[in-house]
Amino acid sequence: MAAALPSPDDVVNVLRGVVDPELGDNVVDLGMVKGVDVAADGRVTVRIALTIAGCPLRSQIQKDVEARVRQLPGVETVGVEMGEMTQDERSALMARARWKAREKAPDTEIPATTRVIAVASGKGGVGKSSVTVNLAVALAARGLTVGVLDADIWGFSVPRMLGVSGRLGGADGKIHPNEKRVGDGLVKVVSMGHLVDDEDQAIMWRGLVLTKALEQFLTDVRWGEMDYLLVDMPPGTGDIQMGLARLLPRTEMIIVTTPAMGAQKVAVRAADMARRGYLGVAGVIENMTSFTCEHGAEYRLFGEGGGRRLAAQVGAPLVGQVPMEPGFAEEADAGRPAALRDGPVADVFRSIAERVVTELVPPVEMSGCTARVFEQLEQAIS
Ligand SMILES: Nc1ncnc2c1ncn2[C@@H]1O[C@H](COP(=O)(O)OP(=O)(O)OP(=O)(O)O)[C@@H](O)[C@H]1O
Ligand SMILES: [Mg+2]
Repeated sequence: MAAALPSPDDVVNVLRGVVDPELGDNVVDLGMVKGVDVAADGRVTVRIALTIAGCPLRSQIQKDVEARVRQLPGVETVGVEMGEMTQDERSALMARARWKAREKAPDTEIPATTRVIAVASGKGGVGKSSVTVNLAVALAARGLTVGVLDADIWGFSVPRMLGVSGRLGGADGKIHPNEKRVGDGLVKVVSMGHLVDDEDQAIMWRGLVLTKALEQFLTDVRWGEMDYLLVDMPPGTGDIQMGLARLLPRTEMIIVTTPAMGAQKVAVRAADMARRGYLGVAGVIENMTSFTCEHGAEYRLFGEGGGRRLAAQVGAPLVGQVPMEPGFAEEADAGRPAALRDGPVADVFRSIAERVVTELVPPVEMSGCTARVFEQLEQAIS
């Protein structure tokens, strides 16, 4: 007589041994196992939902599932059906993964009440640094305190774009950020450009501090109170991204794209980066959307629809479309971000800042928290 068949629960139990190496958790606890069928003739079918259909680990997870289940007595064949998680399932998985990561996160000098936004892209030169500095001043113009961390260690451009130069000062073993007042608000800036004289010198530091620089910017800088910390990411999806995810797992990402970009590739890479780091994607900003000449004619120089396509693909809203303005680059070089003066670019950043504050990544309301803590205290002692 053939061995007794395993129950679906037996199958689920062995699946706890299948770990998604990037997310560092097993497929059962990650909610990826959607169903198990055990047929009378020993055929077992397992339904797996991947975080994204194009998951690079697809075949590895499939092989692991097959190998584990085949070891159970009574199993004749194993079929694996691969599907994709719904947006809600994906959000639940991210929330769980982020919570786990936070438990293990090291101490940084970034206050717990500071919202952290990384400005990233799948490709270089699309305007990450421009978006970072303009969003920073637009938020500060609302009276907020905004930190800007230039995580582009070797290609730093934030000091020049913000017009904030000078060596970083320090006291009691901590580095103090440079500051720039914007209306009633304040921008605090830290960049490799504030530690070295020029880019050549920065390059000499390369091997020495590559992996340590970001960590030091987060642990050795006395940032003080901030409503927001914006992180200008270097191009690509490498070490710095992973480091940020490890050090500040509560980071939300804003992804910058141009209208022309092949959303498919960029989106998958960006979503994948978010997944590996457990980072949430708060929104997409399309840059260089259009150019309006002095006669009022609008030109779409770089194609159309990239922002919308990317937003749909990563399941985050398109937060704004930034036009091109003559003089933008010259003013940026002179340390005067376009968002600080009147014009179409400033209008767009004002509305992006509004959405960030009111909807996408609202600041932590201290009054609200304190009120809630007191409420709980009162309940506890009454
Ligand atoms: N909306 C815009 N209108 C006109 N010029 C722009 C606009 N956005 C960016 N630029 C210009 O395009 C160039 C690239 O922008 P930026 O340096 O912000 O991109 P980046 O994504 O940070 O690049 P990198 O990947 O090298 O860090 C800069 O010279 C900048 O001034
Ligand atoms: Mg840049």
